[in-house]
Amino acid sequence: MAISMSKKKSKPSKKLETKHHQFSDTLLFKILNRIPLAIFLLILIFLWSSSTTIISGKFVHVCVSSRKLNNLYCLSAGTQPNFEIPIPALNNNISTGIKEVVDIVQEVPDPIVNNGSDGEVAFAVKVVEQQLQVQRSWISNKDHVTSCDGKGIYVYDLPSKFNKDLVGQCGDMIPWTNFCKYFNNEAMGEPLVKLGKGWYHTHQYALELIFHTRALKHPCRVYNENEAKLFYVPFYGGLDILRWHFKNVSNDVKDTLGLELVKWLENKESWQKNSGKDHVFVLGKISWDFRRKNDDVSSWGTLFLELDQLQKSIKLLIERQPWHVNDIGIPHPTYFHPHLDDDIITWQLKIIRSNRTSLVSFAGAARPDAPQNIRSILINQCNNPGTNCRFLNCSSGGCDQPESVIELFMDSEFCLQPPGDSPTRKSVFDSLVSGCIPVLFDPFTAYYQYPWHLPEDHSKYSVFIEQEEVRKMKVNIIEKLKKVPLREREDMRRYIVYELLPGLVYGDSNSQLEKFQDAFSITINNLLARVNKIE
Ligand SMILES: *[C@@H]1O[C@H](CO)[C@@H](O)[C@H](O)[C@H]1NC(C)=O
Ligand SMILES: *[C@@H]1O[C@H](CO)[C@@H](O)[C@H](O)[C@H]1NC(C)=O
Ligand SMILES: *[C@@H]1O[C@H](CO)[C@@H](O)[C@H](O)[C@H]1NC(C)=O
Ligand SMILES: *[C@@H]1O[C@H](CO)[C@@H](O)[C@H](O)[C@H]1NC(C)=O
Ligand SMILES: *[C@@H]1O[C@H](CO)[C@@H](O)[C@H](O)[C@H]1NC(C)=O
Repeated sequence: MAISMSKKKSKPSKKLETKHHQFSDTLLFKILNRIPLAIFLLILIFLWSSSTTIISGKFVHVCVSSRKLNNLYCLSAGTQPNFEIPIPALNNNISTGIKEVVDIVQEVPDPIVNNGSDGEVAFAVKVVEQQLQVQRSWISNKDHVTSCDGKGIYVYDLPSKFNKDLVGQCGDMIPWTNFCKYFNNEAMGEPLVKLGKGWYHTHQYALELIFHTRALKHPCRVYNENEAKLFYVPFYGGLDILRWHFKNVSNDVKDTLGLELVKWLENKESWQKNSGKDHVFVLGKISWDFRRKNDDVSSWGTLFLELDQLQKSIKLLIERQPWHVNDIGIPHPTYFHPHLDDDIITWQLKIIRSNRTSLVSFAGAARPDAPQNIRSILINQCNNPGTNCRFLNCSSGGCDQPESVIELFMDSEFCLQPPGDSPTRKSVFDSLVSGCIPVLFDPFTAYYQYPWHLPEDHSKYSVFIEQEEVRKMKVNIIEKLKKVPLREREDMRRYIVYELLPGLVYGDSNSQLEKFQDAFSITINNLLARVNKIE
């Protein structure tokens, strides 16, 4: 992940002062380690992510425990801040859970009815897969927008409290670090000279700003609402909630800005016309941060995405809620922001020629507080003598410099990407951009997230190992990866580097890519294709 937070600046007095790492989910993780509130989220999200393993059969169970907290009882966290820690009841009723899944599914064709636990799990998976198919059906086949006819994009000029003022609070966003440096260079962060042209120390939560800047410069931008097909609402909802995560404020305070935004939109004719159906939000955090339910005992996050008024709009997130068809995952921002086609080509040549001396690598931290998490097992297998595997310990600051991580990935054939505090990882994108084949353990880490940027056939770019197999020690990942034929590795790598990579990075704000479509263009083209289809 992008941030390097200094331990020295951390809040004092944390008995949970522990693991410290640098990747993807890691901001969250670091944060979590510093306050008891964290435990809540660890339980909640960990359960959701780790048990969402299809084959394990815990999928629905988790869906229940994260969405429906009435079956929970509470403990007081003890030390300040005095938040409550919900603990899921042991025997969640799966039937109730599946009904919930059905209830929240929207616009899914032909839902099949099922019973029995295996059937229910299969059903929940089926629902996710159907939704992804719906999302993929919107994909624009045109490689390039040749004209802006019927493709006007209107970017709302929101009152500054909804975006710019939040950026202005960068010094006070979270207690132990200053975010301001990440908002430099149009939110790409400080240049990483060592890695070359177009490389910056980008924060993983910077997407709202990066996307907004690009939208303002889109050639199809229109200034008259009547000419617009697509309405972009540049609300920095992720920054809004980030500033409250670690302050003792009421739910009302956290929800205020989001509710004000809805009120503001509802006064607009452009919103009323299609009830927001042609509106899009970009939220640079995970969906769960915006899905506090009113009856939740927890106080994590806002209820922004649970508001009725927002159900019809598209929400682009770095991690989607798997049973909401209008939540669409888009790539976590990486450190690479090319300006020209040549920047991409230069980088492609560099990584395709890279001499990958390690078979496997893992950059991450163990999760001692989450014994179900497979990370410790992976670390042990990696550290076995005689294996060609490198472990970069993010707990001890090994990942503080993005260069170390990217260089490790450039030097490795396979990169292990186990779930962290939530299923997705920025590191998946860092490894793809480095030409390292990601090894995934949970389909929610990528396969059920990014319908527009990653192909349905995931064997083209990744290796999947069921995490339950790892947990039960049925598989040695190093041995398994050793057996992947060289030819197959090469095919995957070429596909990743030449086919996927350009579409996984966000160009800089003035990028002049012609040959390639970057992650931003792919997203906008698909959004435009969608609004033209839903009429
Ligand atoms: C948090 O705020 C509430 C309400 O103002 C207060 O009762 C409580 O003591 C505060 N907790 C901490 C740890 O400051
Ligand atoms: C689970 O919930 C369903 C529907 O609410 C109910 O009919 C069933 O008896 C419950 N099962 C258990 C084991 O509690
Ligand atoms: C359970 O599912 C089977 C087929 O999957 C079906 O034949 C049966 O009627 C179902 N039972 C109930 C009680 O719905
Ligand atoms: C690649 O790495 C291997 C193993 O370290 C080494 O033997 C080889 O000489 C290197 N090749 C190049 C071109 O650097
Ligand atoms: C990683 O670093 C942490 C903190 O220094 C240490 O406690 C832990 O044992 C290390 N993990 C491994 C597997 O070396």
